[in-house]
Amino acid sequence: MPSQKQFRAIKGTRDILPPDSALWNWFEGAARETLESYNFRETRLPIFEETELFARSVGGETDIVSKEMYTFDPDELRHRPEFGKLDYEIERVGSTYSLRPEATASVARAYIEHGMHLLPGNQKLYYVGPMFRRERPQKGRYRQFYQVGAEVLGPSDAPAIDAEVLEMLLVLFKRAGLANTTLYINSIGCKECRPKYVEVLREELRKVKDKLGPDSQRRIETNPLRVLDSKLPEEQPVIEKLPRISDHLCAACRQHFSELKDELSLRDISYDENWRLVRGLDYYTRTTFEVTATGLGSQNAVCGGGRYDGLVELLGGPAGVKGIGFAIGTDRAILSIQEGGNLPQLPGLSVLIARMGAKAYPVAVNIARKLRACGLVVELPPQEMKFGKALGLADKLGARYALIIGEDEVASETYTLKRLADAEQKKLTENELLEYLESERRSG
Ligand code: HAM
Repeated sequence: MPSQKQFRAIKGTRDILPPDSALWNWFEGAARETLESYNFRETRLPIFEETELFARSVGGETDIVSKEMYTFDPDELRHRPEFGKLDYEIERVGSTYSLRPEATASVARAYIEHGMHLLPGNQKLYYVGPMFRRERPQKGRYRQFYQVGAEVLGPSDAPAIDAEVLEMLLVLFKRAGLANTTLYINSIGCKECRPKYVEVLREELRKVKDKLGPDSQRRIETNPLRVLDSKLPEEQPVIEKLPRISDHLCAACRQHFSELKDELSLRDISYDENWRLVRGLDYYTRTTFEVTATGLGSQNAVCGGGRYDGLVELLGGPAGVKGIGFAIGTDRAILSIQEGGNLPQLPGLSVLIARMGAKAYPVAVNIARKLRACGLVVELPPQEMKFGKALGLADKLGARYALIIGEDEVASETYTLKRLADAEQKKLTENELLEYLESERRSG
């Protein structure tokens, strides 16, 4: 027999299995609760969009769009014999699609498509889900990764919005037990002042070109701001001497940034200003920010975001719509929680039911259903087991209790409940059992 190919998850993707998946669900649940307490509401977006949407918003010259997207041509499917003959006609699309590398572009697209600018006030939306970038995988960097993101779109760009978004983010991180986070902020100006600064920067960069590596040399012409992102040690002394955007902001941007800092102080939020925080996506204006956390190695940004006031218009939407948001890298948030050792108490298996004898089976099925209805996690093994073996299994599965139903219990209409931590055993009637376990569950 030919040996069968064994499949493995594709490089850069991974399975999130129990028990980790419980921590993921807990984190995403905490995120939902926190974001909803600030009146953000969930939006569920497609996983793929027209490639052009990302090219126009994130920017065709960025690494994300030029190198990292998973793009496919839906029309090509019709010509691929391995897909067989389809019994329906595929609609001709004419453009390529891409798996989303991020979701801000999709939120802006949805905002325009559904005329959300006609709704009163700013729209506060959040999303939870996978994103795709063909980056070199390493710790904290995957090709399918997950984000929790929040976006505010609407007529106002008040710095209070920026500050509230940052407050919300830090409240979530604190609640989730993320260790040692640092918030970095910057303002990268607007379409009035940034182009002028970029020219000043380019001029200065040309003068020191010889001291820079090939990537930065290329970026002098394509996107000089990205030189500021460089982590190459030999470039650092050169970069530190470059002109800083804070000295080139227009009056309106300077005031916006200064009011943002006042708003952060009002909320007791500490931050570091980082003039080199330009971010790798083209849609940003004014406020940019990142949060780093410890225990993540080189991929230590657990969240990134900023303002994108012109994006809706750039995508063919109404003029004057402002935007700000962030995306948390869930993979990294989870890593940081795990490395910080500050793990939450997550509900696990409460009760394993051990039964012996034919008459015990219907009793076990019945009580299992009642216990589950009380919110307890119950394992009812499909076969009967000697009590010693069942207790061993309960122990291995991490159950808090074993519920024993043997001939004696059936005859006396009682249950024997054994607490595994200290082997304490009680005989209880059904009502006593339900009451006892309910109160145990409530007290955690
Ligand atoms: P971003 O900085 O590209 O921004 O991604 C946000 C976060 O996603 C990063 O800080 C990181 O934690 C996580 N992340 C990015 N790439 C990977 C990867 N390959 N593997 C694991 N985690 C990753 C955005 O995506 C913007 N859409 C954020 C935003 C929303 N700006 C305004 N609104």
